Amino acid sequence: MIFEAFTWICLFLFFITIASFSIVSLSVFLLRLKPWCSCEICQSFVSSRWSLEFSNLCDWYSHLLQKSKTGTIRVHVLGNIITANPENVEYMLKTRFDNYPKGKKFSSILGDLLGRGIFNVDGHLWKFQRKMASLELNNLSVKSYAFEIVVSEIRSRLFPVFSSFAGKENGVLDLQDVFRRFSFDSICKFSFGLDPGCLKLSLPVSEFAVAFDLASKLSAERALTVSPLIWKIKRFFNLGSEKKLREAIKLVNVLAEELIKHKRNMDVSSHEDLLSRFMTNIDDDKFLRDIVISFVLAGRDTIASALTTFFLLLSNHPHVMLAIREESDQVMGSKTQDLASFKQLKEMHYLQAAVHESMRLFPPVQFDSKFCQEDDILPDGTFVAKGTRVTYHPYAMGRMETIWGPDCLEFKPERWLQDGIFKRVNPFEYPVFQAGFRVCLGKEMALVEMKIVALSLIRQFDIQMANPSHTLKFTPGLTATVKNGLPVFVQERNQ
Ligand code: HEM
Repeated sequence: MIFEAFTWICLFLFFITIASFSIVSLSVFLLRLKPWCSCEICQSFVSSRWSLEFSNLCDWYSHLLQKSKTGTIRVHVLGNIITANPENVEYMLKTRFDNYPKGKKFSSILGDLLGRGIFNVDGHLWKFQRKMASLELNNLSVKSYAFEIVVSEIRSRLFPVFSSFAGKENGVLDLQDVFRRFSFDSICKFSFGLDPGCLKLSLPVSEFAVAFDLASKLSAERALTVSPLIWKIKRFFNLGSEKKLREAIKLVNVLAEELIKHKRNMDVSSHEDLLSRFMTNIDDDKFLRDIVISFVLAGRDTIASALTTFFLLLSNHPHVMLAIREESDQVMGSKTQDLASFKQLKEMHYLQAAVHESMRLFPPVQFDSKFCQEDDILPDGTFVAKGTRVTYHPYAMGRMETIWGPDCLEFKPERWLQDGIFKRVNPFEYPVFQAGFRVCLGKEMALVEMKIVALSLIRQFDIQMANPSHTLKFTPGLTATVKNGLPVFVQERNQ
């Protein structure tokens, strides 16, 4: 009896503590966010009035940033400063890098999925992985291993899937789905030496891909809740989306652990994949799992997103596609089945320009946030209080007249060429791969993969949008994903 009463008292005290903690945190959170703000931007955001005029939140932000004298706006209700000003971007990502880490808020959102992986940490843990990963990714044999994987996936999977849909009257292919399958197979082979086989002819459902997708989608949705307390309480009681997230992560972990255990029993010294390479230096299997999972996340949806919007733009700009074919014929000859070599790709400056131009208008990572550590003032004069989320916005930056001139909304690969040679731009004006100390480590690899996939398809097939007039809408998430996919008809060129 006394024991039972004691248990009830403990439970009561436990819930009182949780409730008081929640109330205090919520009050601090609300005070910082100013949910009562009546400025035009906040009112439009809260009432979703912006959606009457714009299809996507990123289009509305672009419009506001374009109008702003400093290229910076505040959304008080979100406690968020958003900037498209290259000087601010350079300041955050390079000059005062230490004052703008990813921060605990970000890492708690993705922490269950990514653990201590490079994407999700700051400080020493980040520095250590960055050094190790950049050594590997700059290694010539790793680069050619990645290239071989992509070439083999194009020949053995991508072409057969396209051919199986070619010329069929009702053969509508979802290009986005195909590119997601392609990049998942490629990045898993590269990271783990594992072939999930998502792009086999039957387009099978891969347990790993489904679990990984669900886990990254539900983790990203945590960022959309009004307060982090909401998802934290749901996680504590294992409810709703948090229950699903836990199950999805559990499955990802089981598969990753099995794979690591399997590899531990093999001689991996001759294996080329990242996991085998990292294994020779790291004994902690949980840390190894975190490292490679970050790579899968980094290299999967980004490439699929970039390829999807590239083909969308090409369909509205057939002259760009013809120019790409013409350039490749000059470099490779006109046999369409041949795939370009690494060296030939380097010679194709127009293709390089077209790919960059496409990501200017449709960057796969549309925005990226940091959390300010100490009170600060940005170069444009904006005051940033400690703890504020500061977001730089590559999507809006690609549409700024101040950076790209009055034709900034036009798709013009020529703007990247000088006397036919590709010219680089200031990375803080084009932070599609981020810039500064945390610039994307897979940038070169991603560009090569995008170019060879796009070029191979352009040379071998004619691709037409099944629904050319539809309005482009993105679904919210870590990477830009086209809502309802991108249905196309395909036709083999040499028939
Ligand atoms: C078109 C394709 C890609 C785009 C647009 C892209 C873009 C980005 C961006 C914006 C970041 C910064 C993210 C952040 O800090 O929040 C990033 C980081 C990173 N990316 Fe990529 N990425 C692409 C492909 C890849 C690929 C294929 C790989 C790996 C094989 C990769 C590996 C990484 C890694 C490891 C980081 C973390 C760097 C660090 O924190 O120091 N990326 N990428």
